[in-house]
Amino acid sequence: MSSRRPTTIAVIFGGRSVEHDVSIVTGNQVMDAFPADRYEVVPIYISRDGKWYTGDPLRTLKNFEDENVVNMDGVISCVLSPDVRHHGLILNPLAGRFSKSEIKRLDAIFPAVHGSHGEDGTLQGLFELADIPYVGYATMGSGLTNDKVITKMVMRQSNVPVLDDIHFSRDEWLDDPDALIEKITSKFTYPIFVKPATLGSSIGIGRADSEQLLRSSIDIASNFDRRLIVEPAMTNGIEINCSVMGFGNEFEASTLEQPVSWDEFLSYEDKYLRGNEGMKSADRVIPAPISDELTQRIKDISIQAFKAVDGRGIARIDYLVKPETNEVYLNEINTMPGSVSFYLWHEDGYSTTDVVEKLVKLAQSANAVKRRNLYDYKTNLVAVASNRGTKGTKGTKS
Ligand SMILES: Nc1ncnc2c1ncn2[C@@H]1O[C@H](COP(=O)(O)OP(=O)(O)O)[C@@H](O)[C@H]1O
Ligand SMILES: [Mg+2]
Repeated sequence: MSSRRPTTIAVIFGGRSVEHDVSIVTGNQVMDAFPADRYEVVPIYISRDGKWYTGDPLRTLKNFEDENVVNMDGVISCVLSPDVRHHGLILNPLAGRFSKSEIKRLDAIFPAVHGSHGEDGTLQGLFELADIPYVGYATMGSGLTNDKVITKMVMRQSNVPVLDDIHFSRDEWLDDPDALIEKITSKFTYPIFVKPATLGSSIGIGRADSEQLLRSSIDIASNFDRRLIVEPAMTNGIEINCSVMGFGNEFEASTLEQPVSWDEFLSYEDKYLRGNEGMKSADRVIPAPISDELTQRIKDISIQAFKAVDGRGIARIDYLVKPETNEVYLNEINTMPGSVSFYLWHEDGYSTTDVVEKLVKLAQSANAVKRRNLYDYKTNLVAVASNRGTKGTKGTKS
């Protein structure tokens, strides 16, 4: 038996996002996956309105059934400190006379937050400041892949096939809707998909068969985001998803799945509310029923796409595919997919515990690689500037 101190992992979930509830479930799966003899799991729950909490009751999924969990005994406020000295959480940050603040040091962080304020680079920026190893994409890759417009631009540049699109801002739509409708309909035929640039879980997405529906879909989508994207619908196609794990020069693509929708496209309800535990196995076919050749091609494209956005940790990459014609289009890259894609890796011999442990190792090596960079570059610039005085200087940066 080794007497090594357990690794302290903070698992963050919830968040100020339309995918808050999904994240509570993902966070719970992640926390349960860490073996108790080797890991100390610190739950961090971010409420819908952005308040941070920690404490044991947050480890139990049932406690989230009503919204009262944050008032339970044992739940306290916390914040993640950006100050590298703390290397972790400040518990009770606003302690008064009868309670005190404390530091809880962390070895690594596992953000299980989906969508905005979680999967988009914002949380990752905080982890970078704190200099704590964290699971998943770094700031740039998270922000980039969270944006459907930019993702497709980068994919085209990297020779990864994507559907054509037109993107515009909410202001452009409000200023001259007729001009935009003309631009869209002269390029694409119906059905046309309308999406907010940065949401997930199909929220705000519409599929329009007519001009009237196109207008109302854009109206709806523009409530959710400042930037919008429209693209032709792929008809008679199927969806295929592939997960990728890796960092540095080792990348692995998982078995493929075909998620099966009940309607024209996978709605939020399809994904999470049919059945009790979210998307059930009956709603997906694994391995996806396509040829070995097409399977391999999608795996290869997945690794290529993952690398193109400086991917690290894990992602689930989603495709629109027409098997008869061998057409494959990357639809999106999810850097914190629902259930972290555990179920896909089970097919490749990884248990859920294997996946979380691998992701923590990748996080630690990414942090170690970053530490090889120099951030401290001493100069005598300040001394020179102060001797010279500020008057008449032409600025210090060229
Ligand atoms: N161009 C398209 N053609 C056909 N179906 C699409 C298209 N774009 C999206 N869909 C359908 O809509 C769903 C949600 O779109 P997606 O781009 O994945 O957004 P989200 O980030 O909300 O998951 C997809 O899973 C797919 O079923
Ligand atoms: Mg999707």
